[in-house]
Amino acid sequence: MSVELKRSGAPLGHEIRGVDIATGVSDADFAQIENALNEYGVVFIRDQHLSPEQHIAFSRRFGELESYPVGKFILPGHNEILVVSNIMEDGKPIGLVDAGRNWHSDMTFVEKPPRCSLLYSLEVPHQGGRAIGDTQFVSTSAAWDGLPDDMKQRLAQLKALNSFRTYSGKKSDGREDDGKAMPDVVHPLVRTHPFSGRKCLYLSESVTVKIGDLDESGTASLIAQLIGHITRPEYSYRHNWRVGDLVIWDNCSSMHKAVFDYALPLRRRMHRTTVSGTRPY
Ligand code: OGA
Ligand code: MN
Repeated sequence: MSVELKRSGAPLGHEIRGVDIATGVSDADFAQIENALNEYGVVFIRDQHLSPEQHIAFSRRFGELESYPVGKFILPGHNEILVVSNIMEDGKPIGLVDAGRNWHSDMTFVEKPPRCSLLYSLEVPHQGGRAIGDTQFVSTSAAWDGLPDDMKQRLAQLKALNSFRTYSGKKSDGREDDGKAMPDVVHPLVRTHPFSGRKCLYLSESVTVKIGDLDESGTASLIAQLIGHITRPEYSYRHNWRVGDLVIWDNCSSMHKAVFDYALPLRRRMHRTTVSGTRPY
């Protein structure tokens, strides 16, 4: 099998072709997938047929897996899989409905945030013959590179407070009980990618609650300014899902946001695995 990269036209969001995870990925092919992830930040593989065990086994090749720490949305029998879904069974959600309608990187609220996440689609909502419920991605390394030098100098000095407690205090999506117990963490606003060495902007809307010594409104306006910059079209890729897609994103060099343009009876169901990372620096 030979791995081929079909570029999206953006800095990230390239398709990897020639891979069938269920029948096995050689070490050489895996190395190409991993290199592409490290270099571009978001890659995807279409037309997969993965059992939870196969999804988990493939994800483990990137590193140790984590269990999602807040809420009760783990796939029964599989601690490594977070269910992301709007489906209700017996009056209860089977998964996390709001997996991120703000711009975010996964779990910036822990000391060692995950290296990458692998989201596999099982059900995709359709309307008028096209899939909806896209996920938008942006390259935080390309966005960093595109900043003016004076801004880079200012931002590179700053630390940011990330607080899931503050975020979950404003919401009720089934994560608030565990969320209250999550201690706040401080990360650099600009971090270095552990594999590529590139600088990346590092924040999450609603979870990053204080930057440097700015007050609440100063923090909010800096975040708005940064999000405005990061989400420029030249740094962006929008994934239109098909059943059987596996999208892999790097939580340092990319951010993402769910497009919440669907509702029941249109069903969306995805499985996410989360690979451990290191402390941002
Ligand atoms: C996630 C996430 C977005 C989506 O699973 O971490 O942010 O579109 N998902 O489901
Ligand atoms: Mn997410």
